[in-house]
Amino acid sequence: MSDSLARSITGIRGTTRAQLEQLLTDAKRYAEGGDVRSVGDGRVATLLFAEDSTRTRCSFEMACHKLGIRPIVLGKSGSSMSKGETLLDTARLLEVIGSDVLVLRHSENGAADMLANTLRIPVLNAGDGTNEHPTQALLDAYTLQQAWGAFDGRTLAIVGDVLHSRVARSTAMALETLGATVRLCGPPSLCSAAPEGVKARCYHDIEEATEGVDAVIMLRIQRERMASSVSPDPDQYRTAYGMTAARAQRLPEHAVILHPAPMNRGVEIDSAVADGPRSRIFDQMKNGVWVRMSCLAHALAR
Ligand code: CP
Repeated sequence: MSDSLARSITGIRGTTRAQLEQLLTDAKRYAEGGDVRSVGDGRVATLLFAEDSTRTRCSFEMACHKLGIRPIVLGKSGSSMSKGETLLDTARLLEVIGSDVLVLRHSENGAADMLANTLRIPVLNAGDGTNEHPTQALLDAYTLQQAWGAFDGRTLAIVGDVLHSRVARSTAMALETLGATVRLCGPPSLCSAAPEGVKARCYHDIEEATEGVDAVIMLRIQRERMASSVSPDPDQYRTAYGMTAARAQRLPEHAVILHPAPMNRGVEIDSAVADGPRSRIFDQMKNGVWVRMSCLAHALAR
């Protein structure tokens, strides 16, 4: 394996518990004001976001600023990708002009792996199609570690549009690797089987799936990835699978609620829950900065 490939993070699949724990430990060190002086050292990160993003893009950019890395931020619109330039040609250009690391969000499954296997600089996957979102999985794990302390013996339910969710796959793999038990839940059309690499069982009854859990992650209905004919009716979906205030009250007293966001408030999660005492949703967003600092530092380690 090349050095740049070893320093790439394109998925949770294939990572070990020790590697995940190291990334979480480094994130905690940054959260606590750990020394960042040696990381930036005049280096440049290109954040290539060929699919829309708010949290991931802004927190990677913030992570760069905190580490003293100079970020170049590029989208599909406003770049020559809109004229048909390929992803690979765009990435090669960014490499030859001097990027030290490439952060990629793309709609195609496997786009980050393809670049990591081709370029001589490390690649960090900021979400590729329905495949993986490893930095989201790490920030979910970090947030749950804050709530739980340790992962062993803990149970997490991931509820919603599992079929189209790269978060469900990456977060379930990360939490299982770290020692927790994961349950998946959603309507049969959106949660028929665990994604490849995930051991969790699929439930179709949210009350059964969330019984006795230590945390619930609610997922967004990804209408952009489904035909309008199969998109669930929002009111019926909320009744069957939404995290309403009444459902949240029935969870164990200590259970926390997460959501990768953006949220469809009033569909998969009610505002009373998203802004309520169990919610760790804005902690997740804050923790995204520490986790992405950890991933950038890993990619740029000499
Ligand atoms: N959770 C997440 O990936 O959000 P963005 O699409 O806003 O980056």
